[in-house]
Amino acid sequence: MKVLLIGSGGREHALAWKLAQSPQLTTLYAAPGNPGISECATLVALDTDDHEAVIRFCRENGVTFVVVGPEAPLVAGIADKLRAASVAVFGPSAAAAQLEGSKGFTKDLCAKYDIPTGAYQRFTDAEAAKAYVRAEGAPIVVKADGLAAGKGVTVAMTLEEALAAIDDCFDGAFGSAGAEVVVEAFLDGEEASFFCLCDGKTALAFASAQDHKRVGDGDTGPNTGGMGAYSPAPVMTADIVERTMKEIIEPTIRGMEQDGHPFTGVLFAGLMVTKKGPELIEYNVRFGDPECQVLMMRLKTDLLPLLYAAATGTLDQVSAEWKDDTALTVVMASKGYPGSYAKNTPIDGIPADGASTKVFHAGTALKDGKLVATGGRVLNVTAVASTVEAAQKAAYAELDKVVWENGFCRRDIGWRAVAREKA
Ligand code: AMP
Ligand code: GLY
Repeated sequence: MKVLLIGSGGREHALAWKLAQSPQLTTLYAAPGNPGISECATLVALDTDDHEAVIRFCRENGVTFVVVGPEAPLVAGIADKLRAASVAVFGPSAAAAQLEGSKGFTKDLCAKYDIPTGAYQRFTDAEAAKAYVRAEGAPIVVKADGLAAGKGVTVAMTLEEALAAIDDCFDGAFGSAGAEVVVEAFLDGEEASFFCLCDGKTALAFASAQDHKRVGDGDTGPNTGGMGAYSPAPVMTADIVERTMKEIIEPTIRGMEQDGHPFTGVLFAGLMVTKKGPELIEYNVRFGDPECQVLMMRLKTDLLPLLYAAATGTLDQVSAEWKDDTALTVVMASKGYPGSYAKNTPIDGIPADGASTKVFHAGTALKDGKLVATGGRVLNVTAVASTVEAAQKAAYAELDKVVWENGFCRRDIGWRAVAREKA
C-alpha cells in the first residue's frame, strides 16, 4: 500500500516510524514532514491546505491511503474531500471534527447522551457570562469555544481571574475562536489522556498516557502543547478504562452516528478521574503530541492495518497489543517557549536509536546541511523500560547527549507516576 502522511511534528515522526515498519507498506510519503521523518518517508513539498493538490498527488502517485496527523486539516474538511475522491483516509469528517473544533458542540453532545462532564453554559455575550460566573463562584473554568492552540482555557481559582478571562475572550485574544465562550464547572482529580480508534460504529480502546502541560518543573508556569508524556497512565486502571468505554466513549460513538456524523479516526479523550469516576474534559480528534510518541514505542501490533481498519469500517476484525513496559518522552523546546523564541539555532549530538530509546523530531529543519531548531517544541527524547523511573532515567541519559545551547526541558517528566511507584 502507498500511504501519504500529513503533518510535520513529533507525532507525525512517531507515526511515520511505526508505519514504515509495516510489511503492508510499499511507499510512505510525508507532507511536509521534517528531517526526522525523512529517515523513514519520502518528503513531498505539498501545500496541505490545498486539498485539490493533495488529491492530485494521490492520483498521480498511486496513493490509496492518507493518514492525517494534526487537527487543523481535519477541521478544514480534508477527510471529506479525500473520501469523495475515493481515497481512504484516517481521520474524521469536518462535521465529526467539531468534537475538537467546538467545545460547545462537545458539551451539547455530552448533555444529550448523558456523558459525565462538568456542568456548563455557552455564551456569546460577556455580561451574561459574567453573571453566570458570579452566580456559580470560583473555582470555575472559562474556555474559548474554537481552536486556540491549547491556549483558550483559563482554570480560574478566583472570580477576578474568571471575569478577566471572559473579557480576554470577547476582546479577541483568541480571534474568532473566542467569539463564543463556554463556562464550566471545575473538576477535581487526576488527569489522563485516553485514545480509541473508531470506524464510525466500533471503538477500539487503544492506550492511555499522561501529558505534562505546564512549561515548568512541578507543573508550574504557562500551559504548553505538552512538555513530556508517559504511557500507560497508572490512574487508568482496568476498572476506570471499562467505565470510560461504557460511560463516555461508547455513548459518544453512538451519539455521533445517530446525529448523522459518524466519527472515524482516533478519539482522544482528555479525562479527569474524579472521586465519582472518569469525567470528560475535552475531546481531540487526532493523536496527542507528545502522547503519540510514547504510544508508538509501546505498540507491538502493525500500525498500518489498524489505521486502515478504522478508515474502512473493519475495526471489529482487529486488535492491538502493547508492551507492558512504560514509555516516557521528554520534550526539548526552544528557550522562551511557549512565548517567543529564537529560530535557526544549531543542534548537535542527537544520539542514534538504541534498543529501547529513540529521538523524534518536531520543529527541526536542515539549513545548509546542518540541523537547526525552527519550532517551539523541537525534539522528543523517548525511552522504554520496565518501570517509569527506569524509563525516565534512560530518557534523560539520552537527552543529556544532545548539544543545543538554546534548548531547555523539564527535568521531572513522570514525577507523578514515579512517586506512585515509590509509595
Ligand atoms: P483543554 O484545552 O480543554 O484540555 O484544557 C486545558 C487544561 O485545562 C486541561 O488539560 C486541564 O488541566 C484544565 N481544565 C480544563 N477544563 C477543566 C475543568 N473543567 N476542570 C479542571 N481543569 C480543567
Ligand atoms: N499533548 C496534548 C495534545 O496533543 O493536545
